[in-house]
Amino acid sequence: MAHALLFEIGPPISLGPGGAPEDSIDQNRNSEDQIIMPNTVLIGLQWGDEGKGKVIDVLTESAEVVVRFQGGNNAGHTVEVGEERFVLHLVPSGIIREQALCIIGNGVVVNPLALFDEIRELRRRGLNVDGRLQISSRCQLVFQYHCLLDGLLEQKLAENKIGTTKRGIGPAYADKVNRVGIRAADLCRLDRLEVRFRRQASFYNRILRDAAAPELDVDAEWKKLAAVAHELAPLVQDTVLTLNRAFEEGREVLFEGAQGTWLDVDFGTYPYVTSSNTTAGGACTGAGAPPARIDRVVGVAKAYTTRVGRGPFPTELRNDLGERLRREGREFGATTGRPRRCGWFDAVATRYAVMLNGADTLAVTKLDVLDGLDVIKICTAYEIGGELIDRVPTEADDLERVVPQYEEVPGWKQSTAQAADWDELPAEAQAYLRRLEELVRAPIGLVSVGPRRSQTFAVS
Ligand code: IMP
Repeated sequence: MAHALLFEIGPPISLGPGGAPEDSIDQNRNSEDQIIMPNTVLIGLQWGDEGKGKVIDVLTESAEVVVRFQGGNNAGHTVEVGEERFVLHLVPSGIIREQALCIIGNGVVVNPLALFDEIRELRRRGLNVDGRLQISSRCQLVFQYHCLLDGLLEQKLAENKIGTTKRGIGPAYADKVNRVGIRAADLCRLDRLEVRFRRQASFYNRILRDAAAPELDVDAEWKKLAAVAHELAPLVQDTVLTLNRAFEEGREVLFEGAQGTWLDVDFGTYPYVTSSNTTAGGACTGAGAPPARIDRVVGVAKAYTTRVGRGPFPTELRNDLGERLRREGREFGATTGRPRRCGWFDAVATRYAVMLNGADTLAVTKLDVLDGLDVIKICTAYEIGGELIDRVPTEADDLERVVPQYEEVPGWKQSTAQAADWDELPAEAQAYLRRLEELVRAPIGLVSVGPRRSQTFAVS
């Protein structure tokens, strides 16, 4: 099948001076001089935490440019390399691979203090960051006052709270659309940054004061900021130029989605969503990529479903089985450590996500977590008000009310963790995956059966 080719891994490509990959153009063209390396958008098809970090790590074996295009340090992408475990929040996962140039696109909201800490930690662990990371001058910045307001809004919502990561993501995006945000370009202009920061900080402090909430110590915060602004300024670039130059040169670009489709601010389970467009279209607006440059969309889904934070989750298992999935799948938030809610695979929601993103191919992760179950359930429809539906209702309270309709398939009573290819999977696991393909209407191109690089294989 054609999609198998989508996961063929090319040889590593060396980095030129200044971080730009070199010698790659010839490898990327066939004899007719056509570009054969695809530009890929990688998207989560569920509520985030699908294991995108791991799939990105596999895909970045050949990608030369890796771009984050939305979200902020609410994300936590985990990559395991040998005995080492990296959790990335703002820096694209491509940083783990030697050859990739990494871009934080304009659609990302960047907390400068958090980014500085993350870069320092990567350096401490021996990764070469210098010359390999660029921040878009158009990125909106997240400050501590956004985080304080995030906490306050959650507190005010009381039992209706969203369950945010409290990383200030919503307030920072709100500042952007209110046209009062501060952008990364200002990291290069300390005088202007200070004026704008103090003005916004005092505005936020008035809100906090009125709510009798703790205020920000503006002077202390400014000191921290001024120190890191100086360090980050050299990374700030017009990344639209970098990216489009990479397209021109036929370099392979990977767009790294964060969170998942059902957390998208437009299409997700509103208001229980994050504040960015987590779906494939976000790659264009969040990075400055012309739509025609996108060659394929890879959708990542777990073999079951998880959700962290509040909001509707039709297939949630509030029982021992849910506990078991949490334990076996180590389902605790990579950013907040919160236990994730766990449930069966929801083919209704995932099919919708495949359609919405135009996912050409699927990567199914954590298949091994289902090992040993007698029976596995797949949600194939919802019942609401006596009616069977196979779409996701727009309103969160309707989705809250649906009764999932399940199909049962036999489990497999052996470990899949050692499987190195499709043929080594038990017949029941193969049948389960084939059924998922049918139900969500996209072919599976990649399967993972554990956290290590070796536990991922392409499927044809
Ligand atoms: P926020 O993005 O911190 O505003 O949180 C809004 C919702 O998105 C909450 O339900 C969070 O738990 C969820 N969320 C944000 N980032 C992630 C993520 O990386 N994985 C899973 N859920 C996330």
